[in-house]
Amino acid sequence: MTTPSQPKRRVLIRTYGCQMNVYDSDRMADVLAPLGYAPTEVLAEADMVILNTCHIREKAAEKVFSELGRLRDLKQENAAQGRSLTLAVAGCVAQAEGAEITARAPWVDIVLGPQSYHRLPELVARVARAGAIAPNPITGTPGGTRLLDTDFPVESKFDHLPEATQGQGISAFLTIQEGCDKFCSFCVVPYTRGSEYSRPVAAVLAEARRLVAHGAREISVLGQNVNAYHGEGDNGPVGLAQLLRELVKIPGLARLRYTTSHPRDMDDALIQAHGDLPQLMPLLHLPVQSGSDRMLQAMNRGHTAADFRRVVDRLRQVRPDIALSSDFIAGHPGENDADHQATMALIRDVGFASAFSFKYSPRPGTPAAGAPLQVAEPIKDARLAEIQALLRDQTQAFNAALVGQECDVLFTGPGRDPGQVAGRTPWLQPIHLSGPASLIGQIRPIRVVASLRNSLSGALAAGPGQPLHAPATQEPATA
Ligand code: SAH
Ligand code: SF4
Ligand code: F3S
Repeated sequence: MTTPSQPKRRVLIRTYGCQMNVYDSDRMADVLAPLGYAPTEVLAEADMVILNTCHIREKAAEKVFSELGRLRDLKQENAAQGRSLTLAVAGCVAQAEGAEITARAPWVDIVLGPQSYHRLPELVARVARAGAIAPNPITGTPGGTRLLDTDFPVESKFDHLPEATQGQGISAFLTIQEGCDKFCSFCVVPYTRGSEYSRPVAAVLAEARRLVAHGAREISVLGQNVNAYHGEGDNGPVGLAQLLRELVKIPGLARLRYTTSHPRDMDDALIQAHGDLPQLMPLLHLPVQSGSDRMLQAMNRGHTAADFRRVVDRLRQVRPDIALSSDFIAGHPGENDADHQATMALIRDVGFASAFSFKYSPRPGTPAAGAPLQVAEPIKDARLAEIQALLRDQTQAFNAALVGQECDVLFTGPGRDPGQVAGRTPWLQPIHLSGPASLIGQIRPIRVVASLRNSLSGALAAGPGQPLHAPATQEPATA
């Protein structure tokens, strides 16, 4: 990509963790653009590298330190050639372990919490003012400015970031809510993202309209607890259901999704929205974590397994083609075999189109980390394997059931092979087929031909077709 005034510098942003981090990485690129930084994917040409990190499980957090080791070497090599490399760590590890990062990796220049991205330009300017920091005289380790900004600011970053320009595509993300007040026993998010905050309705709608004006046909609205959304509207706070009803009025917006939601916040209005809004896609990610009431209570989830089943039943009543996705944790402290069997039973009974499952990972500072009755690693491994095998079978069965049927596909880009285009079904399955690039950005009925390992293959359906599962969304939605 070229711009009229060629940027002088390049920034590489590496994103880990959830979709909210993906959105934030794009916002960091936006805030750096006026400083002359253009995004790059090529490490060798980067003048700045930002790691946008995730702290959700131990493995995710440890990745940051190994990555920082490699970046130390690169900074050293660059310095030998007289080039500077600014290193920044952002995201949830930065928030949770800021001081440890500057201690363990003193070559880092900026450590920045997720609520402070609007302050990035000021920090970059301070790094520039500080100039080159001398390497450690004994080890030769390159020096870093070691600026730390992990206080939760009183102001909202959303009010201070420039208009979104990066990351706009046919399928776009839009963060509408951040933070969490639920304090599940196992989870770091309330500590890394802070307390719940909902963006005002007008700001969300304005950003959504801009995304659509730039070619988005599908928007996923995001939040750590997106269905706890309660943004200020003209006449007081507005819930997610009402916000979705406003969003579907945007002409040209054909598909809408929301993630991640909490079973506790699936209220009547939101369930009904699934029945009323054809643009709301029939796949809901609704993490349940466990099928055991004892464990749900220990996890502080605030609902029972029966509550979850009831929500699913009601969703299926109003939207018969809805498919469910979820998250599961194997081996939370105190989990016994009966609890695990209750999770297996819930998975069997509900049936999931896709799901994520994790081995419980103790996170510093969370109540569960210090709880007695930690489950032994081999037991966690065995339970996770069982859960994953069942979920894999369910995903394969769900995908295989689509073969021979028609569904709408939103084409988002070229396929892997020449002459191919790729897109997503209403249930988010990746699908590719032979077809012209002109399909990109369009929604077309497709006949599913085969279910492959991680995707589907299809063929253009002969006529306009009657999709068997999904509502017709070929035409832009109009208000
Ligand atoms: N806000 C969402 C979840 C966000 S974190 C919700 O309330 O459901 C994404 C997923 O990571 C969680 O659903 C959970 O399954 C998993 N997870 C979070 N903390 C974990 C931990 N300490 N160990 C293992 N998995 C964890
Ligand atoms: Fe974490 Fe629970 Fe909040 Fe989800 S609801 S972000 S799992 S504390
Ligand atoms: Fe990870 Fe933070 Fe998201 S811990 S999952 S990046 S909110």
